[in-house]
Amino acid sequence: MQPLQTRRQFLQIGSLTIASGAIAMGSHQSLTQGTDESSLVTNPLLAITPACGKGDRPTPSRTAGPFYTPNSPKRNSLIESGINGTKLIVIGKVTNRTCQPISRALVDFWQADQAGNYDNSGYKLRGHQFTDSQGRYRLETIVPGLYPGRVRHIHVSVQAANQPILTTQLFFPSEAGNASDGLFNPVLLLRMNSTQPKNQAAFNFVLA
Ligand SMILES: [Fe+2]
Repeated sequence: MQPLQTRRQFLQIGSLTIASGAIAMGSHQSLTQGTDESSLVTNPLLAITPACGKGDRPTPSRTAGPFYTPNSPKRNSLIESGINGTKLIVIGKVTNRTCQPISRALVDFWQADQAGNYDNSGYKLRGHQFTDSQGRYRLETIVPGLYPGRVRHIHVSVQAANQPILTTQLFFPSEAGNASDGLFNPVLLLRMNSTQPKNQAAFNFVLA
């Protein structure tokens, strides 16, 4: 599993602390420029540069599959009466290729239940939401079950206002079937939190 907090993020958080300390102490130490991760530790000025995940590459698309239902309800939590399984929180951002957050982006999720079945007559485990002013979304759901022919995944479509729809799928790390799943792409792996809360994962979408 890949930790939720990446090495780069850790270094940046660390250097932010250094920067704050330097300001508090009125330090006038000279700062050297650098571009590698190690320079982030010694150069607090670089710490204000926001991280941009996978760089400027758009999130790859994947097929919607046969189980998409339009007009899902607007809700951040897909957990309701009758939904059982392992709770999962997915958080993240929607940005453009230059790392700018996209507010009011439509993020529409749909997935199988813990037994691997889709609700094709209603809207269980289906829902859409809009990103906030900082491009953030937060999904509360369950870990989807497996169904024949596919590895574990969550379907999602993401759309900025008046822009093309990105339809894709999110995958889970450490799944035995990932390598043999025809739609799997490691770029689409959820980043699972390795510390508490263990049921939290992250994924940032980059729109073209
Ligand atoms: Fe599916």
